[in-house]
Amino acid sequence: MNYIGSKYKLLPFLKKSILSVVGEVQNKVFCDIFAGTGVVGRAFKSSVKSIISNDIEQYSYVLNKNYIENHIDIPKKFKYIEMLNNLPLYENGFIYKNYCFGGSGERQYFSDFNGKKIDTMRIKIEKWKNNSEIDNNVYYFLLCSLLESADKIANTTSVYGAFLKHIKKSAQKELVLEPALFEINENTHKVFQEDANVLIKEISGDILYMDPPYNERQYGANYHLLNTIAEYKEFTPKGKTGLRDYSKSKYCSKNHIKSEFENLIKSAEFKYLFLSYNNEGIMLVNEIKQIMSKYGKYDLFITNYQRFKADKNENRTYSANETKEYLHVLEKTI
Ligand SMILES: C[S@@+](CC[C@H](N)C(=O)[O-])C[C@H]1O[C@@H](n2cnc3c(N)ncnc32)[C@H](O)[C@@H]1O
Repeated sequence: MNYIGSKYKLLPFLKKSILSVVGEVQNKVFCDIFAGTGVVGRAFKSSVKSIISNDIEQYSYVLNKNYIENHIDIPKKFKYIEMLNNLPLYENGFIYKNYCFGGSGERQYFSDFNGKKIDTMRIKIEKWKNNSEIDNNVYYFLLCSLLESADKIANTTSVYGAFLKHIKKSAQKELVLEPALFEINENTHKVFQEDANVLIKEISGDILYMDPPYNERQYGANYHLLNTIAEYKEFTPKGKTGLRDYSKSKYCSKNHIKSEFENLIKSAEFKYLFLSYNNEGIMLVNEIKQIMSKYGKYDLFITNYQRFKADKNENRTYSANETKEYLHVLEKTI
């Protein structure tokens, strides 16, 4: 998924830096407390003892329940995918009625056909679960597959803050459910959907990786439609974009972020803390250094990074295309 702040391209840098600080990780508990798409946890899943993954957003919970917590093979996985791909279309579901032009008369996040197909598959997955025809592992595997596949054919510039007036080429393609495959692994892992500052008081481990939002863009607003598909409960969508109520993160607020961040690291019962942040974030490098240094031995890794682009087809020009990506390190002693 093309996700704001995704660390997919930075994984080699992150892995190398983290391993150079921590050394052997085989017996370590690794927590990805702002997990988003889960790519960082996935990169460590097979090399550590256990992953704890968390994010406040429901779509992220679904992705991580599949990619991180699922670790035993699902024998009939392709059969379920095939069945979902071949159902007769349900004509009047929530996504079609509210987020497709044919149903809503205004919003156009998906083509009419794809909106109906999302509804059809989402309703069936819930039915299977309610009838105990599938367990939680299969449920999250299928929901994750649906979120990933729907995101590929969304008629947006990759975030859901707005839809496009005309159906773009990739959104004209028919939605085909693809399996969201996860790594098979002997160890067990745990996924949460909580505020990081609340969860931190309930967990402990060895490595805490923190990748909070850098700026004021709220993830709940930018990815609202993924939450709507994940939750699939009726509500009255608001305004032109069909927004739902969303939780506002203190990490997106200039007034709150510093105290929120300090409370997080103060409460952390982890030895090694890593913070990803870039040079355009709300907190400045020196402010972060000042806060972290209070709690132990501080270090910093830096790399250059290509800026997030909402849509590759769009000819946007930025004053600078590269940003600096920092990995702040704290070996906690207090
Ligand atoms: C920069 S993104 C993480 C990207 C992720 N590392 C990846 O590669 O996909 C920041 C994440 O923090 C989550 N978030 C924001 N505020 C939060 C909070 N208070 N507690 C937990 N998660 C939060 C957002 O939903 C978002 O997914």
